[in-house]
Amino acid sequence: MGDTKYIKGFSKLSKEAKIEWLVQEYFNDSEQALATLKTYWNEDAKLQKLHDEFIENTLTNFYLPFGIAPNFLINGKNYTVPMSIEESSVVAAAAKSANFWYNKGGFKAEVLSMVKIGHVHFLWEGENKAELKKLITDINSKFYEATSQVTENMRKRGGGILSIELVDKTSDIPNYYQLEARFDTCDSMGANFINTCLEKFADVLKEEVAKSNLSPAEIEVVMCILSNYTPESLVRSEVRTPIAQMVEGTDIAPEAFAERFTTAVKIAETQPYRAVTHNKGIMNGIDSVIIASGNDFRAVEACAHAYAARNGSYQSLTHADMSDGEFRFWIEVPMSLGTVGGITTLHPMVKFGLEMMGHPGAEELMQVAASVGLAQNFSALRSLTTTGIQKGHMKMHLLNILNQLEATEDEKQTIVKYFINHTPHHAEVVSAFKRLRGGEVLK
Ligand code: MEV
Repeated sequence: MGDTKYIKGFSKLSKEAKIEWLVQEYFNDSEQALATLKTYWNEDAKLQKLHDEFIENTLTNFYLPFGIAPNFLINGKNYTVPMSIEESSVVAAAAKSANFWYNKGGFKAEVLSMVKIGHVHFLWEGENKAELKKLITDINSKFYEATSQVTENMRKRGGGILSIELVDKTSDIPNYYQLEARFDTCDSMGANFINTCLEKFADVLKEEVAKSNLSPAEIEVVMCILSNYTPESLVRSEVRTPIAQMVEGTDIAPEAFAERFTTAVKIAETQPYRAVTHNKGIMNGIDSVIIASGNDFRAVEACAHAYAARNGSYQSLTHADMSDGEFRFWIEVPMSLGTVGGITTLHPMVKFGLEMMGHPGAEELMQVAASVGLAQNFSALRSLTTTGIQKGHMKMHLLNILNQLEATEDEKQTIVKYFINHTPHHAEVVSAFKRLRGGEVLK
């Protein structure tokens, strides 16, 4: 292991050479480091190559567990939902919530809108804004013509460009305008489609301004990019039940449970510190579906949090209400998903997950993801407002602690049994493990 020097042209090295450089430069035991990387190589060379080619400089694979949550009744259809996540308690919590709502009518989900947005961000130093606006209106059809080949397939599927208009942003930044385009990208997330269209719009805009009578007859295009904020690609999911059926399983009465639950939601609606954690729990569920379905969880995260802050303060994505003897709990969250394109037809586990759900389109997948987010939040709030979160969480985390301690299968079984009736805090698990290893019989 030496003092690492700048390396030139790294991406052009072979995979073997990259690994050799890495293990020699950064690891005391380079053989062990190499062995760790190799442990995660896939025996099937073709499959490994597929993964190698997803990104640059791939050295090996990074596993996430792929789990399933059965019994998700959504709009009368029973789903077994694929979920990929590292956090121990998430799938268990989703599945528990799905069970709770299964015989109460399940989740009612609907997509409220499916519009995506992108911008050509540009500068124009002229004074006569009305002339610029008129030009954009006059040349509107040219944007459509210039992209007609790119949009052909999307139009056949019922989507395409919905509108293109000028937005004056000069009050934010001098001389700054946007050409704002709205799209329907059907079952694809549409990022490449939108960005390709936008770059073509920019070319048209530059050419047409140059030919026009505008003064000056030139613009500076700063950038062309879709927006991952898609408040008009919005999905809603809801559960409802007579309050009398809010039977929780502990000694809290249904009415008191519903009341405390609703108060917990109100806290998240008004208190940003709580709202962030509350929404993080929702995203535990949403992200794991997004990852398992090969979608872009960073886009979904960024969008959800921007939406949560749309009123000027960061708020809960879920809401609850008690009226006329009924408890209602719902989520409204924007997300931009695809079930075609991207890695959806490449990654074997993504294909597996989509097949398991009956090959949903983007709208159906949005409904599933939002329902899982709502279910996740229900489970979290149910624990938080009754037993406390640590009971269930640590029960699921117990195996991680035991694996860290390198417990044998027999030791794991004994200790899991030992903690069946009380919360396994870390220090207690370590102590129980040491006592067991020391020959003590745990009772
Ligand atoms: C943990 O990953 C998520 C929770 O903190 C969410 C919440 O507090 O609502 C349990």
